[in-house]
Amino acid sequence: MEQKLSQIQKDYLKKIQSAPNLKVLDEIFLELFGKNGVVNKLSEEFPKVPKEERPKVGPLFNRIKKELEAVIADKRTAIREEGYKKLETEKFVLQPGRLQAKRQGHLHPVTKLEQETIELFKRLGFQQFSAPHIDTDEYNFELLNIPKGHPARDLWDTLYIDYPGYAPGKLLLRTHTSNAQVRSMREFGTPLRMMIIDRCFRYENLDARHEHTLEQFEIVYVDKGVSMANLQYLSEYFLKAVLGKNTKVRMRPKYYPFVEPGAGVDGQCLFCEGKGCKVCGWTGWLELAGAGMIHPQVLKNGGIDPNEYSGIAWGFGPERMAMLKYGIEDIRIFKSGNLKALNKIHERKKPISPAKIAEPEGDVL
Ligand code: DAH
Repeated sequence: MEQKLSQIQKDYLKKIQSAPNLKVLDEIFLELFGKNGVVNKLSEEFPKVPKEERPKVGPLFNRIKKELEAVIADKRTAIREEGYKKLETEKFVLQPGRLQAKRQGHLHPVTKLEQETIELFKRLGFQQFSAPHIDTDEYNFELLNIPKGHPARDLWDTLYIDYPGYAPGKLLLRTHTSNAQVRSMREFGTPLRMMIIDRCFRYENLDARHEHTLEQFEIVYVDKGVSMANLQYLSEYFLKAVLGKNTKVRMRPKYYPFVEPGAGVDGQCLFCEGKGCKVCGWTGWLELAGAGMIHPQVLKNGGIDPNEYSGIAWGFGPERMAMLKYGIEDIRIFKSGNLKALNKIHERKKPISPAKIAEPEGDVL
């Protein structure tokens, strides 16, 4: 038995070392350690080994088995590394395939709208800012006047995360880009013109207007003498630029704990031009943003003196704007990965006429 083991060790060490590629190495591995492999077969012979030899043969068997396993693992790494090196030095010649030459990509319609938005607000001196997608409930809620147990938390269906080192309920997927408000104030102070265009996440009941993963466009504008008039002006500037200069904008009082006064910003429904239709729920208006004057306590939380400075903030929904702009009735189309539908939307350069919208186009809508 001892001799047999040594022979196997010798033969297989040689075989492993000379394996030219991973395929051969895998075959050797199976030959050794597979169900009907050499190692299993050998262990079946154990009962036949004379008792006095067993204390020697057992450990020897285990040592050789381990050694062969380790040598195979090392060889596998060596073959892989050699392959990577080859890849680095090899030259590829790319030939255009016929299909590829014809196909042309384009930006996602929502990305396009967001890039236009960034350009529009850069012109007004706004700077881009980003905040974490996974954040603490402090930045997402508490510093925005929404303490634990406050009924306003129910406004956001939140996805909490269990993670070592954080108490339950402490870590979450941010429900809005407003988690950037206090961070940007603390980081840059006054005067402040920030824009945040990014993703948020909610535990939503999905329907034509609600997605679990959604975009938001937030601004935080703090300076001396900033007022609701600035909010009305900026809302009009934005909506007219994106949706057309005849777009009508209105503000309604609305409650958010981190603004006072708070407002909902509505755009007149492009589908029915304000007459009322099923898209706008027969009101003639579509809610596109939450907004308001930043609450004095939130300014204080950001290290800003509310007696000296005032600010406005809003959170628009770029996907809602894109629905309006491109005449889409179902928000889920945007993240569906349905290229056919997205290509169709891309081809619609401007808002389509209300007459057309009344007749939704099959697979896009
Ligand atoms: N964060 C709010 C939401 O997701 C929207 C919002 C409301 C943002 C008011 C603001 C604001 O900046 O001032 O529902």
